[in-house]
Amino acid sequence: MSSALPLIRPSAAADWAPDSWRARPALQLPQYPDAAALARAQEELRGLPPLVTSWEILALKQQIAEAQEGRRFLLQGGDCAESFADCTSSVISNRLKVLLQMSLVLVHGLKLPVVRVGRFAGQYAKPRSADTETIDGVTLPCYRGDMVNAPEFSAAARTPDPQRMVRAHARSAMTMNFVRALIDGGFADLHHPEYWDLAWVRHAPLAHEYQRMVGAIGDAVRFMETLAGGQVHNINRVDFYTSHEALLLPYEEALTRQVPRQHGWFNLSTHYPWIGMRTAALDGAHVEYFRGIRNPIALKLGPSVGVDQLLRLIDVLNPDDEPGRLALIHRLSAASIGEKLPPLLEAVKREGRRVLWVCDPMHGNTESTRNGYKTRRFDNIRSELEQAFDIHAACGTRLGGVHLELTGENVTECLGGARELTELDLQRAYRTTVDPRLNYEQALEIAMLIVRKHGQLAAAAG
Ligand code: PEP
Ligand code: CO
Repeated sequence: MSSALPLIRPSAAADWAPDSWRARPALQLPQYPDAAALARAQEELRGLPPLVTSWEILALKQQIAEAQEGRRFLLQGGDCAESFADCTSSVISNRLKVLLQMSLVLVHGLKLPVVRVGRFAGQYAKPRSADTETIDGVTLPCYRGDMVNAPEFSAAARTPDPQRMVRAHARSAMTMNFVRALIDGGFADLHHPEYWDLAWVRHAPLAHEYQRMVGAIGDAVRFMETLAGGQVHNINRVDFYTSHEALLLPYEEALTRQVPRQHGWFNLSTHYPWIGMRTAALDGAHVEYFRGIRNPIALKLGPSVGVDQLLRLIDVLNPDDEPGRLALIHRLSAASIGEKLPPLLEAVKREGRRVLWVCDPMHGNTESTRNGYKTRRFDNIRSELEQAFDIHAACGTRLGGVHLELTGENVTECLGGARELTELDLQRAYRTTVDPRLNYEQALEIAMLIVRKHGQLAAAAG
């Protein structure tokens, strides 16, 4: 599979090393009080097995290259932040169920294979808007994700502990192991979509439409099998890839490895790392780190990114215009996508750069309610996504994927959706430690909305 991809010129990485980021300004990293303990944790990580392999990474890169050509659609989703406590059988399998159901809706509606990427098995470090938090006159470091510290407001909990990186590696490995075992064992088998039903949603407003679709797919599968005279190959397993924001560079560095019979370096902590909006400075440590790894990578684009800055970031991150290498995830808000997105699309198109455009309709649309909940309105999420499809169509570019925060748990964190959750509902099951997530019904509604929008645009294009 790797032979289909052009090699990165050795010169491009000659001045790069897994730790060359250390010479650059690094934002959003914790201050570890004990440098020796940090070095010990890194050494321990260097000795542990990787979480993914280079051939899986290159297979994903090939799939993303196909998505760039319009032959696949990317579905990337999961928690805003995983927590160590949620590394449980039911949380992991429920999240997988939602992603599988959404991908089924997308495959059926878009008539395209879906690249499935979870925000899991490593999404344990978070960027924050302030370094500290003050409550009743006491100031402590902010919570930066379970890989760094703990959310409780005490000095002990909030002190960054490098051993948490080792625990995050172990939790990620347990998550991966369970996901791989479920999939290998037939959990994702298209003959048994009933495995993916979530107990709490039997009477969901959208269940009827979904069940009709499942019925139609079952008929199609049986029809193909009758034609083929046996089981259709590959229908009983799907590929699942992992992603996280590669924010905590000491951890990422320790999992960056060379492998036999491959040139260059791979981040083997995840298939598909991304650069967050707050750490996308051209001369910053994160861009320096990402430039040298061979994984497919993504870059989040917020409303402050300008055209020149974007083109220079593309030059640094994908100098050879390698297929499958770079995705751009725009998260601009329902209110400003109309103004901000067209110039970015025009510039990338004018320069003829190869990227996968992905819409994150979550992170531009976060707000606080009067009673203090951080939430997102389903209508804003829907609006940003629908506008994204229209703007790409008008520019002659293609929206090739979505990036969502969602969970299979019965939470009430985002307002609206088919069940019309209100501010009062938020009190009932608000569980996220960071950003509000779509629950199952809201996530499935987004998948159906993508299909509807895609169909409308295809009909309009004749
Ligand atoms: C996130 O994806 O959780 C996140 C913090 O996103 P962004 O960098 O786009 O704000
Ligand atoms: Co988030």
